[in-house]
Amino acid sequence: MVVVAQLARASDCGSECRRFETDLPPLKGCLSTSFFIPQTATKKKIQIPIFVNSKKIKMGKIIIAIDGHSSCGKSTMAKMLAEKLGYLYLDSGAMYRAVTLYALRNNLIDKGEIIYQKLIDQLYKIKIGFSKNPITRKNETYLNGENIEDEIRQLPVSNLVSSIATIPEVRNIMVKQQQLFGKDKGIVMDGRDIGTVVFPDAELKIFMTALPKIRAQRRYDELKAKGKGSCVSFEDILKNVKNRDKKDTNRKISPLKIAPGAIILDNSNLTRQEQLTWVVKKANKIIKKNAC
Ligand code: CDP
Repeated sequence: MVVVAQLARASDCGSECRRFETDLPPLKGCLSTSFFIPQTATKKKIQIPIFVNSKKIKMGKIIIAIDGHSSCGKSTMAKMLAEKLGYLYLDSGAMYRAVTLYALRNNLIDKGEIIYQKLIDQLYKIKIGFSKNPITRKNETYLNGENIEDEIRQLPVSNLVSSIATIPEVRNIMVKQQQLFGKDKGIVMDGRDIGTVVFPDAELKIFMTALPKIRAQRRYDELKAKGKGSCVSFEDILKNVKNRDKKDTNRKISPLKIAPGAIILDNSNLTRQEQLTWVVKKANKIIKKNAC
């Protein structure tokens, strides 16, 4: 199967976009991921805060792997960090969520049980894409051409995604595609197995966590802000956060664990800005060292 993937930088990027064409080994049930270049991307200049226009930026580029518990703000931090460094950002969780939504919509879940073989047989029909919303400037997730960004964050998907993520056939395909995106480095990726499986040699690995109640409250506030808070209670979200942690930590394939060499970041009592400053400092130190 030929996978064509294009990935725009976290900041709007002009010509600095990645394109891959590769032959993946034949897999039973393949799914493809594509990254669309936003229309606005060609009009703006690249903003790289460190080593601007320097060859060193290429030499010093690193992979930043961010893993951790559910809803602890990994994606928010990863996005901000990528923006700050002029790096690519990939939300690996959105890929598992997209497969889950596909399963829900196509009757591949029966009374809460996944019909495994049927899903595996249909993986080739699933096309996941990311595109930057020109207004919010945030990457949004697409499933077979449809914007599913909001729907994949809702509780029906959240309640099933950790079960879908235990399916080896799904993980194998995801991991191969994620590795492809990091092949030229200069990427921030967040998930559960990024530092352990996808990029075990990442130059910077971070394991993020926070108290379950704090994480649930943040997710609840987020849903409320989007006008979805009335359909779901804080208790439901707390239950979901705890269940997902349990499933992700105890699964046989690629369980969530602290990668060797990872730095632990407990952000229970940190603001977004404080944690960003902390991680940018760490990243810049490694990037500088790498560029020498
Ligand atoms: O953002 P949040 O912490 O709620 O989760 P996410 O990153 O959107 O991931 C959703 C689910 O996908 C996780 O609970 C994991 O079960 C699964 N996942 C995974 O297994 N491996 C990854 N690299 C990313 C996500």
